[in-house]
Amino acid sequence: MIKRFSISDVNGLVRLYNESMREDPDFRPLNYEEFQYRYLELPYETIALVSSSGSTIDGGIIADVDPLMEKKFGRKISVVDLMVAKKDNFLEISKSLISALEQSLKQLGVEEIQFHFVAENMKDVQEVLFASGFEQSRIWYYMERDVEQIDLPDLPSGFKWDHIRFRGKYANARKWLECHNKAFETHYGMRPLRYEELKSYLFEESFDPTGYFGIYEIGKRRFVAQCSCEVDTKLNEYQMASKGVIWTVGVLEEMRGRGFGKLLVMKAINWLYSKGVKRAAIHVDSLNERAFNIYSNLGFKILRKRLFYSKTL
Ligand SMILES: CC(C)(COP(=O)(O)OP(=O)(O)OC[C@H]1O[C@@H](n2cnc3c(N)ncnc32)[C@H](O)[C@@H]1OP(=O)(O)O)[C@@H](O)C(=O)NCCC(=O)NCCS
Repeated sequence: MIKRFSISDVNGLVRLYNESMREDPDFRPLNYEEFQYRYLELPYETIALVSSSGSTIDGGIIADVDPLMEKKFGRKISVVDLMVAKKDNFLEISKSLISALEQSLKQLGVEEIQFHFVAENMKDVQEVLFASGFEQSRIWYYMERDVEQIDLPDLPSGFKWDHIRFRGKYANARKWLECHNKAFETHYGMRPLRYEELKSYLFEESFDPTGYFGIYEIGKRRFVAQCSCEVDTKLNEYQMASKGVIWTVGVLEEMRGRGFGKLLVMKAINWLYSKGVKRAAIHVDSLNERAFNIYSNLGFKILRKRLFYSKTL
């Protein structure tokens, strides 16, 4: 039976998530609060459906309908943030969840559904997406390299490094965010980020404001380039790994081609070095030649892929 999610379903969903997502190479178990924060307390409309047999939750799907995505892409897009189902009946449960989700989204006038970031080894997810009429839209590479201290050249005069601050006389988080959203204005996989979301990162154990930095143009009082990095200690403990992720690297369009992109990645590697981790990870769209060149020239190697899917309703 498929029904709308209610708060009493969180425990069942978290349990299912922790059981069924283990194959994902970036998985770590989430507790109740982390799950709520990551999938349910989003600052835009979400549709969450659960499938149950008797009193047991055996599947769940959460998709969002974010007006900022509509503004960015010019059509109403829903992104599925999570799909989980019991392994022994995965195909059937997830197919019915997708079909129920499509019905609900159609009523909201949604024109396209997207699945982002599906791990390439999760073949059952890919199978159900093809069976439900989805097409692969993008391939992202997951790349890694060793972390070591790199000598950074000076920035041109008039520019300085700065990191994000939310409070006080030198608060600059909104400026950093403005740079982020502008740099990613036409980027396929990056959704526009709201100030409230950025601020909510403060609640994440792994958040460190010094890992959210950029190149600041002093005269114009703006960030012209931005980068964000994270070391998730719980993930490292669970995976017995020692790595950090460079999540975003963005340069304002009019400032590209001056070496700022490359400098951001070098600075990020130094930041990861200061955090004591051994490997740096980064994701890049296989079509993003410019970013891919920077990362490969800096020694990042492709280790695996993540896949994007879409379906027009
Ligand atoms: C990707 C991005 C960060 C690059 O920033 P940038 O400041 O232009 O990059 P750089 O000037 O440091 O260029 C570095 C490398 O890019 C490559 N490059 C430059 N122009 C290029 C072009 N037109 N096409 C392909 N590669 C190009 C070169 O290999 C150059 O290396 P070099 O030092 O050997 O010349 C920037 O284009 C951007 O913000 N794009 C939108 C957001 C995005 O896609 N981010 C990356 C994904 S997270």
